[in-house]
Amino acid sequence: MQRHILLVSNDSQTISSLEWIISENFSSNFIYASSFEEALTFISTHKCCIVVVDNDLYNDQTCLDFLHEVKNVWEHIIRVLLIGDKKQDDVFNMVNRAQIYRVISKSWDLDKIENIFHEVIEYFDAQISVEEISNKVFSQNKELYEMNNILEETIVSKTEELYKMNNQLALSFIATVQALTHAVEARDVLTCGHSDRVAKTCMDIGMALNMDADELEGLYLSAKLHDIGKIGISDTILLKPEKLTPEEIQIIRQHPIIGYKILAPIPFEWNVSQAALQHHERYDGKGYPHGLQGNEISLWGRIIAVADTYDAITWYRPYSKILSHNYALEEIVRNSGKQFDPEIVEVFAGIPSNP
Ligand SMILES: [Fe+2]
Repeated sequence: MQRHILLVSNDSQTISSLEWIISENFSSNFIYASSFEEALTFISTHKCCIVVVDNDLYNDQTCLDFLHEVKNVWEHIIRVLLIGDKKQDDVFNMVNRAQIYRVISKSWDLDKIENIFHEVIEYFDAQISVEEISNKVFSQNKELYEMNNILEETIVSKTEELYKMNNQLALSFIATVQALTHAVEARDVLTCGHSDRVAKTCMDIGMALNMDADELEGLYLSAKLHDIGKIGISDTILLKPEKLTPEEIQIIRQHPIIGYKILAPIPFEWNVSQAALQHHERYDGKGYPHGLQGNEISLWGRIIAVADTYDAITWYRPYSKILSHNYALEEIVRNSGKQFDPEIVEVFAGIPSNP
């Protein structure tokens, strides 16, 4: 950037002296104007680094007005006052009011004036460097701010997309579970709705046990799918109205394992396959398929066992008649500690809304 040093003076001696100092010692461009108007015209079209005002030739107020104008054009212009016979007090007044950086005496001590100009030019260059760095930082901050906004908008938009996809997946998943349970129950009108009723009873027990929402959701799905393995049992056995033979009983007892094999490969968030596998285990270890006992059986398995038996007693079955709620409850309480976990039975018996 070409540095312009502008002198405002109409004193030929002053102009030639300063021009000589500048041209001999600095690479800056020396310009002079004989009036403030002429000086302002130049400043408005050229970036001057220093404006030197010969104060001896103008009254103080005119000088002050001019220097304020200069500052308004570009705040970084260094303002220097050249004085001859002025009183010290007048000079201080001018320096303060016009924010003058340096005062130079017309004594024409060349070394001193040269040093002052070196110092003033260094100060100007430092100011410009600071301004350039500030502008760069401001520009980079603006870019970062805009990038941050774009990033935030992208995150919000992607989150909404994921949320919608997740909802669609959840709906699709629920529909699939419904389809699977219907596929089992559609074969037998008498047990239709069994998984829904078991799931509802399990929810009553789960809530009485103060389960959190996530655990309730897992228990609900496990209950809905606990008999899915019956898909693999033939109609002749599954729908047989008479009592089953020992061989047929062995076949129907395979349904927890079949259900486990169907559900285990599905990446559920919960251990649904384990609950399907264990819902016919007994608390005393005499259940099937693995003869697990006590807390070896998962909590969901122990809960489904109670709800499953309750529905089996209180609903139509091919080989038994429908019995009352009180009978079912008595039967379950009677088997507490044998077939069922006593704590689950106690909770189940204490549910006020129990049908
Ligand atoms: Fe079952």
